[in-house]
Amino acid sequence: RKPPSRKGSMADVPKDLLDQIKRLEELFTVPKEKLKEITDHFVNELAKGLTVEGGSIPMNPTWCMGFPDGYETGTFLALDMGGTNLRVCEINLPEEKGEFDIIQSKYRMPEELKTGNAEELWDYVADCLQQFIEYHHEGEELDELPLGFTFSYPATQDYIDHGVLQRWTKGFDIEGVEGKDVVPPFEAALKERGVPIKLTALVNDTTGTLIASAYTDTDMKIGCIFGTGCNAAYMEDCGSIPKLAHLNLNPKLPMAINCEWGAFDNEHKVLPRTPYDIIIDKESPRPGQQAFEKMIAGLYLGEIFRLVLVDLHGNQDVKIFEGQDLGKLKKAYSLDASFLSSIEEDPFENLSETQDLFQNKLGITTTKPELELIAHLTKLIGTRAARLSACGVAAICKKKNITSCHVGADGSVFNKYPHFKARGAQALREIFDWTTRKDPIEILPAEDGSGVGAALISALTLKRCKEGQ
Ligand code: GLC
Repeated sequence: RKPPSRKGSMADVPKDLLDQIKRLEELFTVPKEKLKEITDHFVNELAKGLTVEGGSIPMNPTWCMGFPDGYETGTFLALDMGGTNLRVCEINLPEEKGEFDIIQSKYRMPEELKTGNAEELWDYVADCLQQFIEYHHEGEELDELPLGFTFSYPATQDYIDHGVLQRWTKGFDIEGVEGKDVVPPFEAALKERGVPIKLTALVNDTTGTLIASAYTDTDMKIGCIFGTGCNAAYMEDCGSIPKLAHLNLNPKLPMAINCEWGAFDNEHKVLPRTPYDIIIDKESPRPGQQAFEKMIAGLYLGEIFRLVLVDLHGNQDVKIFEGQDLGKLKKAYSLDASFLSSIEEDPFENLSETQDLFQNKLGITTTKPELELIAHLTKLIGTRAARLSACGVAAICKKKNITSCHVGADGSVFNKYPHFKARGAQALREIFDWTTRKDPIEILPAEDGSGVGAALISALTLKRCKEGQ
């Protein structure tokens, strides 16, 4: 089913909707020059985040100090607490270079937990780990298993097995956790249940992605997540991290930096925000934060789309969804990024799949011109997300003078959103003015960072401890 071109399909679109399509195009299109301007500002902000004074991008040192050599061995648990699911994995790293075996169980992260209280959170997480161990190691006498805990939120770390939550992101809002070390209450919940686990490393999903990808491909220099949230990690040398200068570390030692680039441009200097981005921010549990993330991450794409449609419906000059019940569409966060994916994937010239989606999911009967506007809007939102994401990747490469490398990427938007990869690659070409046949910097699907990556970081940490570093 090849997507047919819809050339000429705008002929029947009435003037009010055409004007709106044009307005939305102006709002959401990020031209080449703007991409370059954003990237250059991004480079400065990355550097600022490494200084003692800091900037809006946290640039968190992770104490993951080096790449794997492919010969890491052992059995490790990994706990992945992302934004949507909770996953427990057991990873075996055998003697063979770059190999791994993994068993895993997924648990739903109940929506209420995300805005509940801290005790419930840690109890739930510990229960999942306990279940996993009981299921996979029934009746076995177990030594304490080392665990890599992928905690994908900004954390200040003075050691690799601690982490003070700076602030919740991705819509989480659990009281009493921000500003505190998350490890002691987590370990206490495990101890209460007698679960034989020792936390070895607290890991961000981006750092895990960087390390897991480099395990099988040594050209990987950056790890990215384009999913519910959006962020990246890369390797810096300790000598280039002024905020660690007081520790007198060997300046040549590598240190993975979890950028937390979702916070880029919180001061609104360069990103082309639309009125809809402003509403998203205002209505979120943490207004003023994660400005970049709120324009591109999966959690927000459906909401941006929904806000535009609700706004158009409320506009006296625009005739859209006339006589329809908008009750369902008016519910905040009722559409996720997969709704937009389905629209972008609609293979039919008459957009009949989109029409069915609106009918079945929202109870809205759409007209042909409305469907045209919907298809346009979806493409604009998805394209903007991919193009802005590329600015972050380009900025890290520029900062590190990397002219060619692989970038490992994971997350639902990267893996499932149609054309995200191609649009991102196109934006990189524009930023760097490449004319070569093969792109020198390529964003490729990563290995499982939150599972295998966390295990590898645990293995590297134990090795470093043994060597007394
Ligand atoms: C959010 C989190 C960050 C994580 C990203 C992707 O930006 O703050 O830690 O890496 O989402 O999951």
